[in-house]
Amino acid sequence: MFEFVDQSLLPSQSNFGPVDELGGEVVITSSIRGKIPDDFPEGVYIRNGPNPLFGGLKSTKSIFGRSRHIWIEGEGMLHALYFSKDVSDGSWTVRYNNRHVETETFKLEKQRNKPSFLPAIGGDSPAILSAYLLNLLRFGKVNKYLSNTNVFEHSGKFYSIAENHIPQEIDIITLETLGNWDVSGAWNRPFTSHPKRAPGTGELVILGIDAVKPFMEIGVVSADGKELIHKVNLNLDRCSLCHELGVTQRYNVIMDFPLTLDINRLVNGGPLIKYNQEGYARIGVMPRFGDASSIHWFKVEPNCTFHIINSFEDGDEVVVWGCKALDSVIPGPDMSLNQFGWLPRRFKPADPNKENSDDISAADGKLFSHAYEWRLNMNTGKVMERYLTGKEFSMDFPMINGAFSGVKNRYGFTQVVDSIASSTSGMLKYGGLAKLHFEEPADVSLRNESQLEVETHMFEEKSFCSGAAFVPKQGGLEEDDGWAITFVHNEDTNISQVYVIDTKKFSDEPVAKITLPCRVPYGFHGAFLPIINNHHDEILTLSILAAVNFVVENVVEVMFIMKNSV
Ligand SMILES: [Fe+2]
Repeated sequence: MFEFVDQSLLPSQSNFGPVDELGGEVVITSSIRGKIPDDFPEGVYIRNGPNPLFGGLKSTKSIFGRSRHIWIEGEGMLHALYFSKDVSDGSWTVRYNNRHVETETFKLEKQRNKPSFLPAIGGDSPAILSAYLLNLLRFGKVNKYLSNTNVFEHSGKFYSIAENHIPQEIDIITLETLGNWDVSGAWNRPFTSHPKRAPGTGELVILGIDAVKPFMEIGVVSADGKELIHKVNLNLDRCSLCHELGVTQRYNVIMDFPLTLDINRLVNGGPLIKYNQEGYARIGVMPRFGDASSIHWFKVEPNCTFHIINSFEDGDEVVVWGCKALDSVIPGPDMSLNQFGWLPRRFKPADPNKENSDDISAADGKLFSHAYEWRLNMNTGKVMERYLTGKEFSMDFPMINGAFSGVKNRYGFTQVVDSIASSTSGMLKYGGLAKLHFEEPADVSLRNESQLEVETHMFEEKSFCSGAAFVPKQGGLEEDDGWAITFVHNEDTNISQVYVIDTKKFSDEPVAKITLPCRVPYGFHGAFLPIINNHHDEILTLSILAAVNFVVENVVEVMFIMKNSV
């Protein structure tokens, strides 16, 4: 009844195609050009991303029409670089490995050795509904568990995550999937790709959206990772695709924006996922252990924001910085049909002055993503919004020094969209990195006029990055003491490398370029996770790592405040 059809890739899309597992780690020290700095921390740089089984993403044809995978699907594969240092002579050894995240549905399809789950997000409504039903009848699940978006650490354990399921615990040394993490049985629903560590306490704030009620719930996991100490239904009346939540010292920040997943809309012949540019948008500020009734909602201009750069308290205000666009890249272009009609105009720089004019139906610039600020006054309820960056760079995938998550920071880093390469290939490509300087004029009245200083680090032609992360310098005293690390693929040479860039000398050549033994496809989020001692030594125990995190966060924060008050 359903026939699987491969979604083909154009030559300009070839690095979105999957690779094989390496089968074990490879020492790549000899392929380092430049030098790993002496004060670089030991640890693992790890990135997640889609690596579909059976050759690539699929579509189906049937009497119900077409259903298709959308570009964010594909089974998660981890790519990891291990940095270990010889204590006797200070020399570095770097190893590389990759491995699929083996969710229940990955194992099921692998065992059957053929595509089995029907694509159930993109396509014609009757085909998607039929796919849902057939998947449910055959496998007990409406869709596959991808686990392809991010990697995080909590209490000395490491997890792979995509927000349609709970995290998969990973053996960080072997990349073996150890199984579901349901917080001792207390979290039985989807889980955000961007959980946040609460400043000061080490607790993990999590969120889960679902297609059925309750549409959104927030939870707080204890610092030791053993207990869900808070869980609350936010009583939303729609499934808003909130990809990331924010934390401040006292609050959780929730984005309820008009990119929604709606089964009723699908049943009525509409798309499952849709951005409604005229729908309402609001940001909720909830005390850490509050509930639906204690959320202070702030109405904001309709927008689509997947990622929060940071959020923090500033006097009476809660400040939220994010990467804001006026349309959604999800579900995005159809891989096989109209991608070239969909993307090109949308990446042109947006004109903020036209945002609320009669011209809002124009597609121009709708996906041009700016750094943006919302200032939410908890006393007056007033909202101030403004663009922080101009038309020169479209940016997303933000990162900051993790010690400043939830407290006021001075620097942020993002990946910079290559608008032309993205438009011509029909897929998002990032041709460089940006460093944002958040220093403000002391005079508040001047702030709306200001645009942040932006430094850039652009790559060679036809070279694009993914999974960029910030690595704080060991013993670093300033917030930007450290490195940006990222996977970079050169489409001319078909060689993949990892770049290490000094964030104090951001525009300079990378201090190290590490050539990888095989191609690494473009993917999603990366993280640098410290591992103490040698690569094969036992990693820190839960309690020690939590304590170290706590001390580092607070010492750095105090030193930063002292430095700025002098
Ligand atoms: Fe994300």
